[in-house]
Amino acid sequence: MTTENKNNLSNSSVLKTDQDYDKYFQPPSLKDAKKRGKEDVKVHYNFEIPEAMKTIGKGKKFLIRTYGCQMNTHDSENMAGILLEMGFEATEETDDADVILLNTCAIRENAENKVFGEIGHLKPLKKERPELILGVCGCMSQEESVVNRILEKHQHIDLIFGTHNIHRLPNLLQEAIFGKEMVVEVWSKEGDIVEDMPRARQGKTQAWVNIMYGCDKFCTYCIVPYTRGKERSRRPEDIIAEVRDLARQGYKEITLLGQNVNAYGKDLEDIEYGLGDLMDEIHKIDIPRVRFTTSHPRDFDDHLIEVLAKGGNMVEHIHLPVQHGNSEILKLMARKYTREQYLELARKIKTAIPNASFTTDLIVGFPNETEEQFEDMLSLVREVEFDSAYTYIYSPREGTPAAKMEDNVPMEVKKERLARLNALVNEISAKKNEEYQDKVVEVLVEGESKKNPDVLAGRTRTNRLVNFVGPKSAIGEIVYVKVTEVKTWSLDGEMVEVAEVKN
Ligand code: SAH
Ligand code: SF4
Ligand code: F3S
Repeated sequence: MTTENKNNLSNSSVLKTDQDYDKYFQPPSLKDAKKRGKEDVKVHYNFEIPEAMKTIGKGKKFLIRTYGCQMNTHDSENMAGILLEMGFEATEETDDADVILLNTCAIRENAENKVFGEIGHLKPLKKERPELILGVCGCMSQEESVVNRILEKHQHIDLIFGTHNIHRLPNLLQEAIFGKEMVVEVWSKEGDIVEDMPRARQGKTQAWVNIMYGCDKFCTYCIVPYTRGKERSRRPEDIIAEVRDLARQGYKEITLLGQNVNAYGKDLEDIEYGLGDLMDEIHKIDIPRVRFTTSHPRDFDDHLIEVLAKGGNMVEHIHLPVQHGNSEILKLMARKYTREQYLELARKIKTAIPNASFTTDLIVGFPNETEEQFEDMLSLVREVEFDSAYTYIYSPREGTPAAKMEDNVPMEVKKERLARLNALVNEISAKKNEEYQDKVVEVLVEGESKKNPDVLAGRTRTNRLVNFVGPKSAIGEIVYVKVTEVKTWSLDGEMVEVAEVKN
């Protein structure tokens, strides 16, 4: 990648050059996705929707249903931005929508089942209103088997596109509306980075900021490197400009996004620049809270730890997925660290940032996991004392190396292990939360509590959920709350004026 690309705008508009995308337009193939090329990733700065397309949505409404991780949530904000510029209005009501897009997730089988369930539910609606446009996009669209299944069994779908060609939405939607055939455009190879796409952010307080796309780690169980392509970092100056702009607009919290944010910058050939350097820059910007997700232990370097220890707007929360506590399984997973190396890293981070909350992801039931190996996971959880953890039963993903491993562990055993793991994780979460009894915490107020509109809900810097009684005017603000009751997954409290806080 070179800065020249930035200036060479004349014929690089991704929307205008159809020849440009022809070279990428092949049927989706996992085999191709696995090949990582060395070609330069270009950055395009001149995204624009042609005037003629800006009225296509006039008088019409769209609905985007988002599944999966923050990456998808943020992609949906881009799609919404594009659709609004095309004249569409947003709606939450299925019956009101003229365009429905399912932004899908492929991470586990149950995620995919949910989407196929929804595709089935939408069939009668399409029959009733043939002019309704139904689109499937996101990570599932990048899977060959999914595209084939839709082509064969779900002809009521009008449009399929993937994660690499979101900027092509105006053209694709136009084709879907005015053409008669199902429109399928999935790039099996990642494309360039497209800056300047319009974005309809969901809130005025918290914002997502992509810092990189893709993943090169190829953990043996994981589909993401295939659905999201190779690692591509945005230019630091573009990220910093976006964060500055969000600060100017009054946003209180940003979350830097990537599948493996610790690899940020490794692909930028003209500069030596990593996540530590980026955080150090962002640290100086006047925005109260900065988070990042997700970290891979292998690339978590000392410079980053040093920078994070400066505190300020960099919050005391580290999400560091460990996946397992047994070194043999970690090896089979191709995580490229051992149990001991993870424990050492956790110790280092906790020493540098003593009040940090530490969370993780764990997978039980990897092929042939023995009881002893599973117990290593339990002992690691006890040793690190995670503040909370996302726990999953391993789900084989077609095309990944782990899917070919034979597995002799029955599902009942996996479920029982998950229950034991959850019991332990919850016990530790509850214990850690007890430290908050009667303490005052800084809370960024997100809105009304989902369970009770008379109560407000927000998060501490350590990402703990806090429910408290307070004026609606506090929504979107940072306030102080004294914790009156501690629960397993949340804290209850009342608003106070004081500012001596526990993070
Ligand atoms: N890039 C992030 C995670 C992305 S997926 C990282 O590496 O940490 C989020 C979580 O889903 C993973 O951390 C893992 O715990 C889980 N996961 C991924 N593939 C899975 C699979 N095949 N079965 C079960 N859980 C899986
Ligand atoms: Fe998947 Fe591993 Fe990449 Fe995370 S780091 S997205 S688990 S391959
Ligand atoms: Fe799912 Fe794709 Fe995210 S598979 S977890 S939506 S990157």
